[in-house]
This record gives sequence, C-alpha cells and structure tokens, in this order.
Amino acid sequence: MRVSFSPLGNSGVAKHNETLLDVARRTGAPIGNACGGIGICNRCRVRVVEGAENLTPPTRFEKDPESRLACQAVVLGDCTITTSYW
Ligand code: FES
Repeated sequence: MRVSFSPLGNSGVAKHNETLLDVARRTGAPIGNACGGIGICNRCRVRVVEGAENLTPPTRFEKDPESRLACQAVVLGDCTITTSYW
C-alpha cells in the first residue's frame, strides 16, 4: 500500500488503518491541517492522481467529489496524490 506524493517525489508505505495524512506526516510531505484530523477544517484537501479506488469511500465531511480530505481517506492500496501548493 504505497502512497506517492506528486510532484514532490516522496512516497511511503501505509500501515493498517492509516490515512493519507498519517503517511504524509511520516514521509515529510507537507499537508495543511488545523483541526487535528477530525475532518472540519478542509486544510488537508488533496487531489487523487491515481488509485482513488484504493481509498475508503468519502466520509460525511467530504462534499467535493473532485478531492479528498487526507485526514479522512484511509489507504487500502497504492495511490498517488497531489495538492495545488506542491
Ligand atoms: S486536517 Fe482538518 S479536515 Fe483534515
């Protein structure tokens, strides 16, 4: 379950039940977050480049079908994500 952060070039292997934000923090990929990962600040919004099907379905906090909240999306398989600020 490898998560790649494009175009940074960072990547990391997700452990069981880890979110995109968990993996980003561990690998040093900067993702905004202000609510401690409870889904209310929208600062951790990311776009999935590949592997959207390898994330858990959007939670009730996720309203935008074009993006995911990194703190809500649990990794189930390989994926690549990006943000507008990398
Ligand atoms: S860290 Fe606040 S919504 Fe994800």
